[in-house]
Amino acid sequence: MEIVYVENDIEGGKKAFEIIKKGIEDGVKVLGLATGSTPETMYQEIVKSDLDFTDMTSVNLDEYVGLGAGDEQSYHYFMHDRLFNHKPFKENFLPLGKAENLEKECERYDEVIATHPIDIQILGIGQNGHIGFNEPGTDFGVTTHVVDLTESTINANKRYFSSAEEVPSQAISMGIASIMKSKKIVLMAFGESKADAIQKMIEGPVTEDVTASVLQNHDHVVVIIDKDAASKLTIKH
Ligand code: GLP
Repeated sequence: MEIVYVENDIEGGKKAFEIIKKGIEDGVKVLGLATGSTPETMYQEIVKSDLDFTDMTSVNLDEYVGLGAGDEQSYHYFMHDRLFNHKPFKENFLPLGKAENLEKECERYDEVIATHPIDIQILGIGQNGHIGFNEPGTDFGVTTHVVDLTESTINANKRYFSSAEEVPSQAISMGIASIMKSKKIVLMAFGESKADAIQKMIEGPVTEDVTASVLQNHDHVVVIIDKDAASKLTIKH
């Protein structure tokens, strides 16, 4: 893993944007995108830029079960609000949280990923070390699947809802096996609440208890972290 230390999320967003920009210059066509507060500064950089994305495809990591594109807490809404409404892409894919048959929706999404292999996957990390919504204990071999969210994740994400009770208890998430097929992965983490997860991801054993640790097995991972997120690492920088 290449580790890039930054001052804050603003600088982190700029670094991630530079990687995407360079990627596009080198022929990248498919971006795997993430939600949450972490990639917001990167999305701001993309929106500010004069880079043309009309030839680009995005494939998002996940969506809450039960929320549709019009729900303000949905990841569909988030992505359109932060990025797609301001920077048009050729195509944008997200799992459909309101799909009638969730199993079929997972199959459809696997097909989307298979036909649009991800060149650069952007990731944040959950406080319990999850990537996408691949909670602790998720089999590294799974592709798109329906997830029961853990209490830690519901608590961390409740800030977007009026109460914890309103946070959906399930999500559809790209699986670890699909994430690992991305040609390049850029994971960002800012703030002390991510320090434990970052330490385990980088220095801990590769274990399904910390799903992000699987990234130790990927050859092209860039980790962009600030001082607080890096504070529990024992390696010097
Ligand atoms: C959710 C998302 C993840 C994201 C994580 C951290 O669980 N499914 O993709 O990385 O939240 O969110 P934040 O960046 O807001 O800390």
